[in-house]
Amino acid sequence: MSSDRLPVFITGAGRNVGAHIARRLLADGVPVIAHYRTPTDEVDALSTAGAVVIRGSLDDEASIRTVADAVMAHSPRLSGLIHNASRFEPTPNDTRSAAADFADYWAIHMLAPYLLTTLLTPALAPAGDRASDVVMITDIYADDPTPKHDVYCATKAGLQNLALSFAKRLGPGIKVNVIQPGPISFTNWHKPDDQQRILADTLLGRAGNPEAIYQAVRALMDNDYITGAILPVDGGRRLGR
Ligand SMILES: NC(=O)c1ccc[n+]([C@@H]2O[C@H](COP(=O)([O-])OP(=O)(O)OC[C@H]3O[C@@H](n4cnc5c(N)ncnc54)[C@H](OP(=O)(O)O)[C@@H]3O)[C@@H](O)[C@H]2O)c1
Repeated sequence: MSSDRLPVFITGAGRNVGAHIARRLLADGVPVIAHYRTPTDEVDALSTAGAVVIRGSLDDEASIRTVADAVMAHSPRLSGLIHNASRFEPTPNDTRSAAADFADYWAIHMLAPYLLTTLLTPALAPAGDRASDVVMITDIYADDPTPKHDVYCATKAGLQNLALSFAKRLGPGIKVNVIQPGPISFTNWHKPDDQQRILADTLLGRAGNPEAIYQAVRALMDNDYITGAILPVDGGRRLGR
């Protein structure tokens, strides 16, 4: 990993994949600045383990700028930035709710990564000859959308496109890569039939876990000749059967 003694900042670290990545980075000796919105036991545990924790929403420009300022106040130098925070639900059928959701998805999946990456670029200036890292977590659905989740998918596709612009803009000092998770965990609205259908379509025949995403983060950060890459971590789900 580049600049190991400088912190990595990760968004949405209050639970699930984000909390796991933060925990594993700390265990590997990498300082962590962990963003969260809702307090959880996992946030308390990260703080106890030595992470700097920053609470905030990423709903609009003002709140995103507040989070960026808080990161800079804690550490004007970073070795990495991981855009993990996300929302995932089916698009509502009524257009008023769908329009409101669209604004939320756009803010969390596109505006926040755009502004945070831009505002924190000075902090990511490389230390020595190793590039720093930005990792955007999207979804295999960014390439092959499900119409039921079209707004989620479209904004994740937008994030993926932004990542490629940032890779072009920020090289050679900063590498920018994308991780596309597949079925890592199921939500409480995934019915057992849906889960079985998804796993039957997944070449490895099982769900993944947050550790698979952490291993992909490490692989990208540890490799000094990968930028602008899009890495599926999906057990082969994108190919189906
Ligand atoms: N898990 C999977 O199977 C899977 C599959 C494909 C892609 N992914 C991607 O992998 C990443 C991690 O997934 P996950 O399942 O761990 O996600 P998750 O459990 O839904 O957690 C998302 C995190 O983002 C935060 N967040 C959401 N909206 C926010 C906002 N407006 N402002 C601030 N924070 C906000 C949430 O905070 P709150 O707790 O306050 O809501 C939560 O901590 C995401 O980018 C996701 O899209 C996951």
